Amino acid sequence: MPKITFVSADGGRTTVEASGGDSVMQTALANGVGGIVAECGGSMMCATCHVYVDEDWTSAVGEASDDERGMLDFAASEVRPASRLSCQIAITDDLDGLVVHLPDAQI
Ligand code: FES
Repeated sequence: MPKITFVSADGGRTTVEASGGDSVMQTALANGVGGIVAECGGSMMCATCHVYVDEDWTSAVGEASDDERGMLDFAASEVRPASRLSCQIAITDDLDGLVVHLPDAQI
């Protein structure tokens, strides 16, 4: 199973195993990773699942869609080029080892 590492705003790292087909957001919630709120449950209507994809993984993960980028305008923390909504990142075997950084705040 692919492993995903979440790096909190204070630098703490949590590595968990993900189920293929789940999103990064679902993986965080299923494993009790703090820092992801996901108010809308993955419908791309809240921006409280904001993450920064690690620079080594941005090309593998890909870019946000225009709709996702529009919702990121409502994110509580600074939006950067590597910003993504974690509910929109589907986990595949190609993302084994993925590292995402959590913002200071989601609300
Ligand atoms: S969970 Fe609401 S936009 Fe991702």
